[in-house]
Amino acid sequence: MDDVSFARALHVFGVVLWIGGVAFVTTVLLPAVRRMKEPGERVAFFEAIEGRFAWQARGTTLLVGLSGLYLVHRWDLWHRFAELEFWWMHAMVLVWLIFTAMLFLAEPLFLHRWYLAQASRRPERTFALIQGLHWVLLTISLVTVLGAVAGSHGG
Ligand code: HEM
Repeated sequence: MDDVSFARALHVFGVVLWIGGVAFVTTVLLPAVRRMKEPGERVAFFEAIEGRFAWQARGTTLLVGLSGLYLVHRWDLWHRFAELEFWWMHAMVLVWLIFTAMLFLAEPLFLHRWYLAQASRRPERTFALIQGLHWVLLTISLVTVLGAVAGSHGG
């Protein structure tokens, strides 16, 4: 296996773990948390599971970003960012930037504190908002995956 095939394999490996995790949190975990009766229970349960996933997501985000940049550099694909037909290249970078900003800046700096304060005061509204945001992120991620696979295989 040459270096580019290896980077591509790592790229897809990272995407599967990362976006698969986002799909699980959005479609399974959050609905289960919202069905719990005790608001205090919800916060503790979600904290324990999502907190662990946040570290995984940080690792896979780094892996996907580094392997993606390596591919762009090795194949010299920079010109694609000037062409609309490669919208899925822009989408990949955009999704990556949004998650990087959330996981590495917003979450540790203020989002976590905001969530704890809001979840104890208004649990219903807070979890509804969190689930809505997760649906938006999951949808743009999946559209990006579809576009990237179709686009990079001649679609
Ligand atoms: C800095 C961020 C990223 C860069 C620079 C990047 C770059 C690339 C490049 C250069 C390719 C190969 C394109 C080709 O073969 O013509 C690729 C493929 C791909 N990327 Fe990304 N990517 C990034 C982030 C993402 C993200 C966030 C996702 C998922 C939401 C993603 C999903 C994919 C998929 C599914 C493929 C197709 C793999 C295949 O079918 O072989 N990438 N990426």
